[in-house]
Amino acid sequence: MPRFVLSLDQGTTSSRAILFNHQGEIVASSQQEITQHFPQSGWVEHDAEEIWQTQQQTIVDVLEQAQLMESDIAAIGITNQRETVVVWDRKTGVPLMNAIVWQDRRTADQCRQLKDAGFESAIHSITGLKIDPYFSATKVQWVLDQVEGARARAEAGELCMGTIDSWLIWKLTDGKQHITDATNASRTLLCNIHTGEWDNALLEKFMIPRSMLPSIVDSSGVVGQWRGVPIAGIAGDQQAALFGQACYSPGLAKNTYGTGCFLLLNTGDRVVRSSNQLLSTIALQINGVREYALEGSVFVGGSLFQWLRDGLQIFDDVKELDALAATVEDSGGVVIVPALAGLGAPHWDPFARGLITGISRGTTKAHICRAALEAVSFQSVELVECMQRDASTHLEELRVDGGASTSDLLMQIQSDLMDCEIVRPEVTETTAFGAAALAGLAVGFWKSKEELARIWKEEKRFTPQLSEEKRRQMRAAWDTAVEKAKS
Ligand code: G3P
Repeated sequence: MPRFVLSLDQGTTSSRAILFNHQGEIVASSQQEITQHFPQSGWVEHDAEEIWQTQQQTIVDVLEQAQLMESDIAAIGITNQRETVVVWDRKTGVPLMNAIVWQDRRTADQCRQLKDAGFESAIHSITGLKIDPYFSATKVQWVLDQVEGARARAEAGELCMGTIDSWLIWKLTDGKQHITDATNASRTLLCNIHTGEWDNALLEKFMIPRSMLPSIVDSSGVVGQWRGVPIAGIAGDQQAALFGQACYSPGLAKNTYGTGCFLLLNTGDRVVRSSNQLLSTIALQINGVREYALEGSVFVGGSLFQWLRDGLQIFDDVKELDALAATVEDSGGVVIVPALAGLGAPHWDPFARGLITGISRGTTKAHICRAALEAVSFQSVELVECMQRDASTHLEELRVDGGASTSDLLMQIQSDLMDCEIVRPEVTETTAFGAAALAGLAVGFWKSKEELARIWKEEKRFTPQLSEEKRRQMRAAWDTAVEKAKS
């Protein structure tokens, strides 16, 4: 009997493979960084072949570490950075150019034109999304318009497009499967989230031939094989994290502190249309039945800390950030608005630029570090406020995960500024676990969501400690700074 499930987590900064046992414990894991390409200001690309190579190496490595064979693996689950898109040749499997990454802003002008022409509301009704360069559609359109001969080849049926799940499954199945799951499809700006199908009117609007698109499948279900192992779970990383956090019922929410911060609230079988600049998105699809979430997407979270390290060289290792920030009581009036890739929810301003305000002669790098932690927290506070208004609920607690959630100081600041209980689980690799869970469910490795929910365990709870007055003061300074950052 196979005793493990293999999760492939292809994120913005790295490709990872993680093996889980039946108790949901990590048995082995392997990680390979991927190169970030910035060909022009605001452009971000990844080499799709490097994504595949690194992902393959992590699979080999993890099996070697645990001394396992393919026959020990019950199923493979795949989770991925969303919206990032690859266009490749159907016959040769060769990509036409680098993948255009979700953070890339090259289509900002085109998006502004679509907005100015008044399409936002109609597109939002169908897709649950905003018109923003974040999503895949305008990126594909850019490839078809800018790569010589691409449009003619696409119209002749010679090209495939896909988000990273599609690309990896194509590679894992030697080109046999060109598919994507409903959660990933819902991030393209081409999918009708009410029906779970590609929308003809949107394909026409973005001038994308239907033949390029993958088939949309369930998030849990066997879709192909890799060396005899069923590929049985697929979900965009934020939806996988929602599932991995056992947020199975409406009203439960999670926030993932990765490259960005992504806060998702389960809304069950109901598409809640946001009146507060949030997204409605497919949370999962099983047996053709969809569940939905409200999402707040913040583009810069952990990547702000990396920028302090690499761009400003305030410290050598991100681990030093907490220690530095803990040496001061507050940021001394410094506010950072990390609009390093424009602003996502709820502002949706791809032209916004980051700023640091409130610097005085007494400002030290400790204050800057503290302000960075507050900036990441404040962005999530804005999301929760919008969510509460949209769903007319009060969030009792927020489950957290992702790399930066291991910082006790960040989580305490988050709890203080959000005025909400923050709950961190024992396993913070919930994205990878979510994909494993979806795959394991499909092959009977785990029998039910109830069984999976018993695996989720609380590790630590953070309770608000800041006075109401101080919170209000800090919030006012944040709001003023955000207005200055906007275009
Ligand atoms: O929507 C973008 C998101 O999926 C990226 O996630 O974890 O790679 O930063 P991450």
